[in-house]
Amino acid sequence: LHVAVLMGGWSNEREVSLMSGNGVADALESLGHEVSRVDMDRGVALKLAELKPDVVFNALHGTPGEDGTVQGMLDLMGLTYTHSGLVTSVIAIDKQLTKQALVPHGIPMPGGRMVRTDELYQRDPLPRPYVLKPVNEGSSVGVAIVTSESNYSNPISAQARGPWQEFDELLAEPFIRGRELTCAVLGDRALGVTELKPQSGFYDYDAKYTDGLTEHVFPAQIPDEITDACMRLSVEAHRLLGCKGASRSDFRWDDSQGADGLFLLEVNTQPGMTPLSLVPEQARHCGISYPELVQWIVDEALG
Ligand code: DAL
Ligand code: MG
Repeated sequence: LHVAVLMGGWSNEREVSLMSGNGVADALESLGHEVSRVDMDRGVALKLAELKPDVVFNALHGTPGEDGTVQGMLDLMGLTYTHSGLVTSVIAIDKQLTKQALVPHGIPMPGGRMVRTDELYQRDPLPRPYVLKPVNEGSSVGVAIVTSESNYSNPISAQARGPWQEFDELLAEPFIRGRELTCAVLGDRALGVTELKPQSGFYDYDAKYTDGLTEHVFPAQIPDEITDACMRLSVEAHRLLGCKGASRSDFRWDDSQGADGLFLLEVNTQPGMTPLSLVPEQARHCGISYPELVQWIVDEALG
């Protein structure tokens, strides 16, 4: 097969996408495929039109590769591509739209509301502790946890920690104390549950991509009931949103609240494929090597 691997782009997750894309491209080459590595710029449609690949492996993260824009372009060009399609991507990239789509179906997600960043100068939008996050970023870019101990009188003064200048609005959600869990889905199969134990206590960008800063525990040492709920909710969310191929659902579990303390935070339709990423890691635990996972994703796209 001739596979064009789309990577890079100009989102805040450009570097992550280059790691995902080059990992995928190396694997495809090791499997004997012809690979074109395409670092996405504004001329991407012309590049792809010239290359005429059999399939596009979308290894982009963030906007516009994960938000439906690139999916729409590929649809118009008649190119087959991996992962989710346009409508699913539009909804899943937006944490607020995702709630509107999933909560009516009984998927537990934290409440919260959109808040204008200039309002944050005036008052706390929710009782502390709460989380502020852009609705459409990944890898914890721009996320801040505001606790009663936060040593600033208003959260916006912490904006040096995130590129909040880019955002007019942020999503404010109650902070769920407790544990960080994640579950990969391949088609209709949940692979299992990993617990993330970041040294710093916050699974932020550095904790995600710096080797040694976060312990990954698989299978998570949690009650079977919580493991089963995570896996069931991940498959349900994947199905309700119309995801294709691989997705990964992220959870917080307040272990003082039993099953009532489990909340889905979001569904990632373009989950990371870097050496420290969780979908490849869970696949490996299930006996699926990285090249086998990449081949499965390609086969799934080709239907
Ligand atoms: N947004 C990153 C790439 C992830 O979900 O893995
Ligand atoms: Mg995400």
